[in-house]
Amino acid sequence: DTYVLIMAGGVGSRFWPKSRNHFPKQFIDILGIGKSLLQLTYERFLNICPIEQIFVLTNETYADLVAEQLPAVLKPNILLEPSRNNTAPCIAYAAYKIGQLNPNANIVVAPSDHLILKEKVFLNKVEQALNFSSKNDALLTLGITPTRPDTGYGYIQYQDVPGEIKKVNAFMEKPILAKAEEYLKSGDYVWNAGIFIWSAASLKKAFEQYAPEIATLFESGLPFYNSPDEARFISEKYPLSPNISIDYAILEKADNVYTIPADIGWSDLGTWASLHAIGEKDADNNMVNLEKIHLKDTSNCIIHLPNDKAAVIRGLDNYIVVDDGEVLLIYPKSDEQEIKQVAKDMVIQH
Ligand code: GDD
Ligand code: MG
Repeated sequence: DTYVLIMAGGVGSRFWPKSRNHFPKQFIDILGIGKSLLQLTYERFLNICPIEQIFVLTNETYADLVAEQLPAVLKPNILLEPSRNNTAPCIAYAAYKIGQLNPNANIVVAPSDHLILKEKVFLNKVEQALNFSSKNDALLTLGITPTRPDTGYGYIQYQDVPGEIKKVNAFMEKPILAKAEEYLKSGDYVWNAGIFIWSAASLKKAFEQYAPEIATLFESGLPFYNSPDEARFISEKYPLSPNISIDYAILEKADNVYTIPADIGWSDLGTWASLHAIGEKDADNNMVNLEKIHLKDTSNCIIHLPNDKAAVIRGLDNYIVVDDGEVLLIYPKSDEQEIKQVAKDMVIQH
């Protein structure tokens, strides 16, 4: 039986200042098509399982945003986290809960901020992965052919045997640039898409083996589905969990990781450059969101201004220019991974 967990609790700080603590990027209509990334993600998964088996994991501060954007998701399926402890504990919470509901559950875990252009191929790969994980003790992830030495992703080296599903030799989360360049050049790595497929049983086993602190927490008596004690248990216990992503907690360590290389038109809309890469550009490779922005001798930029702004820009190359009305950011595109820290520092100062 298939269940889907959509993770929608991140802050999206590399998309600052458009993505803010109180309104992270998964809730934004960043593509300008009338739907947020979260809504697009949800619609994609309606093809995989019934609505009652779709869960959304988020921080309690976003409870209203999720309910408003996804009114069809059952209220008890919106799992609220009282603290920010990254993806490992949030996945554990949902996996233990779903495991109680249905010990044979097969789970797809997905981020809420990705773009997938080839939906049919995507659904087909997920079906294959589900089929495999229902029969094997396997932790599966979709693999994406890398196009640049991005240090924001997990890198996966797999055994190149025939067949769609490949056993993983090594998983390296967010390597330094020199390593990422080496992996890209070698040609036998894929990026971790961050879309995972596994059974509740395999995941539980992996937590017990590689992240026992987290396993113990949830095995210390997570009250049954929707019991009145659940909220109390979570508010007391959840913040005690280590703060760690699933990639570091499990995938780097486990020896039963598999990947399906998948050409699904994938983009993690994690940063401004990633939006620039997929967006419509002018002859000088600039992506601008308003017509009344006048550019001269300007190239390779992404410029995103409020609707009521006019602007004239001359002589910029490879820059991010973003004004959300409150904050103006002008930053070299090549250093965009720093924006996460910049956003943190700004929050502390203001
Ligand atoms: N519920 C909940 N709680 N969701 C969270 C939390 C949390 O504490 N922290 C992050 N998320 C959500 C984010 O909103 C996002 O949808 C997803 O989990 C992944 O978190 P990111 O913070 O975006 O991770 P990342 O992009 O740095 O790295 C992951 O994704 C890459 C691909 O996009 C890793 O899995 C990498 O290995 C992978 O390459
Ligand atoms: Mg991400």
